[in-house]
Amino acid sequence: MDRNSAIGFFDSGVGGVSVLRDAVRLLPRERFLYYGDNLNAPYGTKSEDTIRTLATHVADVLLSYDIKALVIACNTATSAAAASLRARLSIPVIGMEPALKPASMLWRGGRILVLATPATLRQEKFRLLSEKYGEHAVVRPCAGLMELVEAGELESERLDDYLRGVLEDYRGVQLDAVVLGCTHYVFLKRALARLLPGVPLVDGNEGTARRLQSLLDQGNLLREAGEGSVRFMTSGDEAVFIPLMERLYQVPV
Ligand code: DGL
Repeated sequence: MDRNSAIGFFDSGVGGVSVLRDAVRLLPRERFLYYGDNLNAPYGTKSEDTIRTLATHVADVLLSYDIKALVIACNTATSAAAASLRARLSIPVIGMEPALKPASMLWRGGRILVLATPATLRQEKFRLLSEKYGEHAVVRPCAGLMELVEAGELESERLDDYLRGVLEDYRGVQLDAVVLGCTHYVFLKRALARLLPGVPLVDGNEGTARRLQSLLDQGNLLREAGEGSVRFMTSGDEAVFIPLMERLYQVPV
C-alpha cells in the first residue's frame, strides 16, 4: 500500500455516489473504488449486528484491493460498524453522521428536521450527537425512501407522494433546515427543494471529503501526479446498478 493505492468507498447501495462525487472534485488525482452492497440493501431497516456483519464483509472486499483509506459513505453503516473497523484496520477509516452540527447553526427559532434511516436514528452515536446539537431537532426515520433512489427515481409521482407524506406531519412548523442524514437522500435535493422552497438542505458530504483529504495528507498518502480514476462495483446485478451509479455520478444535485 502506498500513495498510488486506491481509496475505497462503500455504501449499502448507490447513495454513497453522492459523497464520492465531492471527493473526486476535491482529489482529482486519486483512484477511487466504489462498492455498493445493493444486493443487501437497505441497511437502515436491519439490526445493528446484521449491518456490522455486512459492512465488515464489504470492507474486506475493498481491502483485497490494497486500498490506502476506507470511506464509509453511509450514515447507517458508520453508526454500526465504524468503531469496529477502526479498531481492526491500520488505514484511515472515514465515517459519516447526519450533519446536525452545521444545521444547528441555521436555527432561527423553528425546528431542524432530520431525515435518516431508522437504524441511524436509534443508535447510540446519533443519541450522543443529538444531545450536543439536537436541542431544536425533530427526527424522522424514512423507511422505504432509499429504495426509490435505488430504483433510479429522483423525480416521480411516487417520490413526491412519499415526501409530501413526510412533510405533512410538519405542516405549520417553521423548518429552519432539513438534514439529509442518509447519503441516498442527497439525490433527492431537487425534489425536496420544490416542496420546501427556501429551506436549506444540509448534508455532510463535503465535510467527509475534506476529512478524507486531511487524513491522507497527514499520512503522506495524497497522490500528487497522474490521472485519477473511478471504478464502480456492486454485490447486486451489474447490468442494473453499474449504469445507475454512472448516471448518479453525473446527475446535477
Ligand atoms: N445510504 C445509507 C445511509 O447513509 C442508508 C441506506 C440504507 O438504508 O441502506 O444511511
